[in-house]
Amino acid sequence: MCSIIGYLGLNQAAPIIVKGLKRMEYRGYDSVGVATFSNNQILVRKGVGKVIEVNKSVRLDELSGTVGIGHTRWATHGMVTDTNAHPHPSSTGEVAIVHNGIIQNHEELKKDLQQKGYAFKSQTDSEVIANLLQYHYDKSRNIKQSIVDTVADLKGDYAFVAVFEDGTLAAARFHEPLIIGIGKQGYFISSDVLGFVEHTDEVIYLDNMEFVIIGNSGIQIFDFNANPVQHQITKVSKEFADVYKGEYAHFTLKEISEQPTTILNSGNNTKLELDLATDFIRHAKSLYITGSGTSYNAALVAKFLFSKYAKIKIEPIISSEAHFSPDIFEQQSILIALSQSGESADVLEAANIAKKAGSKIISIVNIMTSSLAHLSSISIGLGCGPEIGVAATKSFTAQLATLYKIVDKISEGSLGLDLVKVSEAIKKSLSDDSKAKIQEIAKKLKDVSDIYVLGRGIHYPIASESSLKLKELTYIHAEGLPGGELKHGPLALMDSNTYVIMINPEDSTYSDTLTSAREIKARGAKIIGISDKPSDVYDHWIEIPKIEEVMYPLVEIIPIQLLAYYAAIEKDTDPDYPRNLAKSVTVK
Ligand code: F6R
Repeated sequence: MCSIIGYLGLNQAAPIIVKGLKRMEYRGYDSVGVATFSNNQILVRKGVGKVIEVNKSVRLDELSGTVGIGHTRWATHGMVTDTNAHPHPSSTGEVAIVHNGIIQNHEELKKDLQQKGYAFKSQTDSEVIANLLQYHYDKSRNIKQSIVDTVADLKGDYAFVAVFEDGTLAAARFHEPLIIGIGKQGYFISSDVLGFVEHTDEVIYLDNMEFVIIGNSGIQIFDFNANPVQHQITKVSKEFADVYKGEYAHFTLKEISEQPTTILNSGNNTKLELDLATDFIRHAKSLYITGSGTSYNAALVAKFLFSKYAKIKIEPIISSEAHFSPDIFEQQSILIALSQSGESADVLEAANIAKKAGSKIISIVNIMTSSLAHLSSISIGLGCGPEIGVAATKSFTAQLATLYKIVDKISEGSLGLDLVKVSEAIKKSLSDDSKAKIQEIAKKLKDVSDIYVLGRGIHYPIASESSLKLKELTYIHAEGLPGGELKHGPLALMDSNTYVIMINPEDSTYSDTLTSAREIKARGAKIIGISDKPSDVYDHWIEIPKIEEVMYPLVEIIPIQLLAYYAAIEKDTDPDYPRNLAKSVTVK
């Protein structure tokens, strides 16, 4: 989603803000802008494109002033245009704001403010915050009071940062993240620690319904009723500093390559919570698991693991669908909520619905300071470090590894889980030889319009995840199918322009999947086999190491992540920042 950032300190604000925005670009990135306070006025520059492009054309980083705010936009209300880009100044220019989230009652507020004489330029919901602040500020000439009055009028989920005509910075949070950085040479406010982590590791996590005012005399935090609030300063983990690509061409490749280690680390920092969660699950009246996108695919693997190995029924729920069947949850049930970011609005909504119905929430998240972690009874950390590439890779296998650990504990070792062995197998798939072969196959996909990915049993969720990776990274239409469904319809789509990836390790699904491969081949489609055993039916064979059946999902996804990555390179798309997508989807 959008990123917001603010700085007040001893240094020039704009270069610091531009750098911070670049770091957070993964959250949303169709346009960008900066506003600074300089010589008693607020200056704004903005435009459509990536930070680097917009900065080149309008020199955001050359705005003068030691106070400023910045934004990268992922459009929700209004087209991607220069005017709709943030920051938005109020109609008199005494306040400018950047906003993340959605203001639900923006239409009525806008009408009301227009009648009061405040002018609007953009089609965004966000501009209403600027004029509302201005309106309340005009009444009281008091920044604190204007924020209290403004948040009382706003409906929706939001975090905003505002700069006022006297150089004061203010920010408020309602169901969207906002973190304050306390540096030696200034203060930062940002939607993500990554926005300022190179300047300071001392932070304050604003709670929901709090706001902060930062001026030359220091920092003051209040709740939405204007009561002062005290917060501890905490230190962020050093791992946040590890946000450089290093030797890798892209974050996505770096993150794919980290998986031999990250699967071993999963849940290690929250061992107690993992044990507690296991106990809770054993005694749950009923069990549900939810997530969106990749996290939902991990939930599908969990369904298989829980039923086969722990003999426990677990119902996967697509988070965005929970709203339409709220009665599903009951007292004393447990909802396992999977989310890399812990900020996906759909997942938060599902968790809140379940909580309201009397269910306990166990979350498995990468960001332990996230809203989801906060609202959960127990939160288990993925511990896989920052994932910057928009497409989830290492967080997916860390989710799987955590779920495997839970099921192995509940079933008293019936999984025979050996993550060290899995880690070794992943390393083989990441070898230079393996990568070179996958790169060659990726060239064949360059002009392909449709890819189908087939897998049976525990491999079906991986087929689904594979198709998601291919869509996101290559923009090629891709579909994951359970192998047996082929003859019930999709076979009609097979012809010589189609590529089919068969996930076919030599296990209980092998011969059925091989039969499907032959049926497809007979229709002229090209076949890429992901298997530990070669076959004449495959046009291309990607070898994976042999391992126990239950552990294949962790291994077989790796070459497909690589295939999607290299196909993106062939197609000259940006694998780290796919078009139209954002890393944490904080709107519904
Ligand atoms: C896919 C992807 C998305 C996310 C989804 C949920 O590569 O990144 O499908 O998995 O938006 O995000 P989290 O896990 O942060 O809730």
